Amino acid sequence: MADRAGAGGPRETRPEMTNVAIIGTGAIGATIGAWLIADPALDVTLCARTPFERLRVQTPNGMLESSPRLLTGPAEATPVDWAIVTTKTYDAPGAALWLERLVKDGTRVAILQNGVEHLTRFPQLSADRVVPVVVDIPAERTAPGEVVQRRNGSLTVPAGPAGDAFAALFAASPIEVRLTEDWRTAAWAKLAINCAGVVSALTLRPAGVANDPEIADLMRGLVRECIAVGRAEGALLTDEVADQVVEGYRAGPADSINSIHADRLAGRETEIDARNAVIVRLGVRHGIDAPLNRMAAALIRAS
Ligand SMILES: NC(=O)c1ccc[n+]([C@@H]2O[C@H](COP(=O)([O-])OP(=O)(O)OC[C@H]3O[C@@H](n4cnc5c(N)ncnc54)[C@H](OP(=O)(O)O)[C@@H]3O)[C@@H](O)[C@H]2O)c1
Repeated sequence: MADRAGAGGPRETRPEMTNVAIIGTGAIGATIGAWLIADPALDVTLCARTPFERLRVQTPNGMLESSPRLLTGPAEATPVDWAIVTTKTYDAPGAALWLERLVKDGTRVAILQNGVEHLTRFPQLSADRVVPVVVDIPAERTAPGEVVQRRNGSLTVPAGPAGDAFAALFAASPIEVRLTEDWRTAAWAKLAINCAGVVSALTLRPAGVANDPEIADLMRGLVRECIAVGRAEGALLTDEVADQVVEGYRAGPADSINSIHADRLAGRETEIDARNAVIVRLGVRHGIDAPLNRMAAALIRAS
């Protein structure tokens, strides 16, 4: 695919352009960055920790390649119309330093992260400017600035004016933005899938481990705790979700490696707090014990 962002230096900013800053240039940041850069109506800046010259994203629709405008420290940042956070959940404090420079009156902030705590993770932002986003875009980084996007995927946001404005950013891309009246349930449904994935990180076996009946029972138990706490938090999750999650893992490629498994294999920090310990923490608020998720979190933290 052509380099629609131009071949080099900074792009000229037209007054009618929407300014977008993307914090984090890993799998998700680079993927959405590549698509948004390709839209001439958007003026995109990448806020990186690890710099690179060329952005190369192998998408389902072909290669997107560009020379992005890239900042490497919050001191270089200026206010924008949209700030999009794509760091891992545990890097929220670093993202917050960028937000201090990027946010002005009228700036909207989209949080593209796993978990159900998008709003509380950034308490310094007033909730009315934050758009929480459930991410379903499978993508992997192969090198700084180089990513493989496996599916076009989707981003789910609350219905309303802010959700509409977020969807407009992706109007020229094949990434679907879904608007929902019940974002809480969407986020908890994703958490139900993610919390069960910890069995792969613990056994160091990919998704096919769900075919083991004992492991499948354990996964259902992890999900049932998520369902109970999610319901107490207001999510509408049926009992069937536990079986559906196991079936989902069984139906996918048996060799697929989820991100917490990949992080553990690579010796990186994991999102265990956002994927499992959160169920324990929020359960305490409602007097609901979540011993399986507690054990899983303790084992990952101790390993
Ligand atoms: N990848 C997927 O398929 C997928 C799917 C669904 C949901 N998600 C969720 O989406 C979120 C992002 O995941 P990801 O896979 O994109 O993670 P990732 O590949 O690890 O990328 C995170 C990026 O954040 C950057 N970063 C960290 N601290 C920073 C800071 N202070 N300033 C600037 N950049 C900083 C990292 O910098 P470095 O380049 O220096 O490492 C990295 O580029 C996570 O919550 C994940 O669970 C991911």
